[in-house]
Amino acid sequence: MTIKSASGTMAAHLAGLLVSVSLSTAAFAGGPDLANGQERYEETCIACHGDNGKGTMPGIPNFASAKGPFAKTDAELTTSIIEGLESPGADLAMPAMGGNPDLTEDDVRDLIAYMRKAFTK
Ligand code: HEC
Repeated sequence: MTIKSASGTMAAHLAGLLVSVSLSTAAFAGGPDLANGQERYEETCIACHGDNGKGTMPGIPNFASAKGPFAKTDAELTTSIIEGLESPGADLAMPAMGGNPDLTEDDVRDLIAYMRKAFTK
């Protein structure tokens, strides 16, 4: 006599793959490109800000000063560069993107990193 056994249930468990992507700091592959920052600076910003970041005419802030714009955060500087800036009573306004609409947000990040390194202590 044959005993019929109920066939077992095969349960296939697929382990979920948890990928945690940390984008908190752009420290590695996605970090700023200083060479690109310098190139963009020399192409667009140097006319007003000068090769030493001290400004080429009245109304341009001195990037090298400890109390200058680079006391601000990168986020604040990013907004100033992207949107332009005219402080109350300023002699001259900073044009949006320094007047160069071809600049990207990556360029702005690279520019800030370059300027911090080149002009501030
Ligand atoms: C036409 C001249 C001119 C050009 C070109 C120019 N700037 Fe400026 N920039 C200014 C002036 C003027 C200010 C000060 C504006 C104010 O405080 O009202 C300024 C301010 C700044 C500040 C300080 C912002 C802050 O929040 O205090 C940064 C950073 C800056 N410029 C970066 C750049 C970069 C990067 C470029 C090139 C992409 C550039 N600028 C091109 C005139 C210029």
